[in-house]
Amino acid sequence: MAYIEMRHISKRFGTVPANDDVGFFVDRGEIVALLGENGSGKSTLLNMLAGLYIPDSGSIYIDGRRRFFHSPQDAIAAGVGMVHQHFKLIPVMNAWENISLGEKAGLNPFIEQKRVNRKIAGIEERFGLATLHGKKIYNMSVSEKQTVEILKMLYRGASALVLDEPTAVLTPQETEQLFAMLRNMKQEGCAVVIITHKLNEVMEISDRVMVMRKGKEIGTVNTADTSPLKLTEMMVGASISLEIRREPPAPKARPVLEVKDLSCFNEDGTAALDDVSFDLYGGEILGIAGIAGSGQRELCEIIAGLRRARRGQVLCGSEDLLGLSPREIKNRGVSMSFIPEDRLGMGLVAGMSVTDNILLRSYEKRPGVFIDRAGGKILAEKIVERYGISTPSVQHIVRKLSGGNIQKVLLGREIDLGPKVLITAYPVRGLDIGASYSIYGMLNEQKKMGVAVLYIGEDLDVLRELCDRIMVIHGGRVMAIVDPRETSKEEMGLLMLGQKTEAV
Ligand SMILES: Nc1ncnc2c1ncn2[C@@H]1O[C@H](COP(=O)(O)OP(=O)(O)O)[C@@H](O)[C@H]1O
Ligand SMILES: [Mg+2]
Repeated sequence: MAYIEMRHISKRFGTVPANDDVGFFVDRGEIVALLGENGSGKSTLLNMLAGLYIPDSGSIYIDGRRRFFHSPQDAIAAGVGMVHQHFKLIPVMNAWENISLGEKAGLNPFIEQKRVNRKIAGIEERFGLATLHGKKIYNMSVSEKQTVEILKMLYRGASALVLDEPTAVLTPQETEQLFAMLRNMKQEGCAVVIITHKLNEVMEISDRVMVMRKGKEIGTVNTADTSPLKLTEMMVGASISLEIRREPPAPKARPVLEVKDLSCFNEDGTAALDDVSFDLYGGEILGIAGIAGSGQRELCEIIAGLRRARRGQVLCGSEDLLGLSPREIKNRGVSMSFIPEDRLGMGLVAGMSVTDNILLRSYEKRPGVFIDRAGGKILAEKIVERYGISTPSVQHIVRKLSGGNIQKVLLGREIDLGPKVLITAYPVRGLDIGASYSIYGMLNEQKKMGVAVLYIGEDLDVLRELCDRIMVIHGGRVMAIVDPRETSKEEMGLLMLGQKTEAV
């Protein structure tokens, strides 16, 4: 029997079967990846192992003994620690205070602090973790906070570590550091389980991989015996091409959009954008890469007319778009499909039908013109058909569609207006693989038609495959504009961290 085994686990939320008769095991000295699309039940399964949820049925064994966890404390006492997607640290405390939180305090606080620190230092050394104990949480980077979470679990005696999508928030370098830590844990005899939906990470870090789809266990394979393509088939249930065709860009004439010296402030008076300049040409996809919160949102909002700049210009032809209203900007042929945090925010009206959402934009474009409902229905049906949007009918309320279909309605509507410039930010966030690749296809098609496409993305691999040029930003500044065919992923990672390299 393996170190940890979960057998015939089922869990429902209301009517949703989040886990349906799932089995899972992991041994000491092994790294197992749990792979599956969004909503396939990965977090649910491991949250039960970590004592956060209680299974409706099924059993959990650790070291051959059946366990019943009613809280994360129960799980930790049995040696299972989990690092969640959202950290649970107290910002005003430093690392060691957070780590020892909840421990019974000794009599002398000073001796106590020394004892705790000695123990932490021992763990840091044993597992090769960065030394952080005196640093306040609010001064830490995301990756440092994650290290503290891991340390906290090890400090409490975890010999099985479960990490839920730990790399979603990390740069390539930080991911490498994390993987090095995980390999050390494996060497030290820990069991490591990592949830991810990134295939390249599975291939790199895991010994075994279990794939889930729609709450069910699809299969478990040795990583050495599989390939990204085979894993995708297991994840999606169909074969699917993982290739993004990069069409050659159109020869450069005049830029369609010229952004010059754009600057703006954050609320606290620091610079959110600092002299950002770039040209965007017709027939190219210009990518923007950066750690979350590097100014992507501000840039989009200024170009869209939703935020005021302190200085700069956004030239479209000979006209400066700064100071124009969002509607005036859109009427110049600048289309936006960006809804950074919330797809159903500014772009679509959740409670309206597909048709009405599509009509909304044509009406905006020609205000005062009689709304042609019959024509709107035909247009909506055309867009639904063209982009393979899966909806019971065009009268269906947008909110009730899946994320991928909502995104396709939004993008399809914008594209149908024949924009000169198409700006998309995180268009595939939360989408499954099939939907993501059809969005990339839509963007490539626009590029072929001569549209200037600005693509703000978070997956560096996708950015590198899709874009003709990539602008890397850090702290609101342009670090470099690179050709992804001539710049390594590592170099781009360094630029994202704000370090200039020799090569660029
Ligand atoms: N606390 C919850 N309440 C209601 N539904 C939930 C809850 N957690 C997860 N679900 C649902 O269970 C399913 C599996 O979710 P989850 O385990 O989070 O998937 P994954 O981690 O693979 O993305 C989804 O349909 C999700 O909406
Ligand atoms: Mg999850």
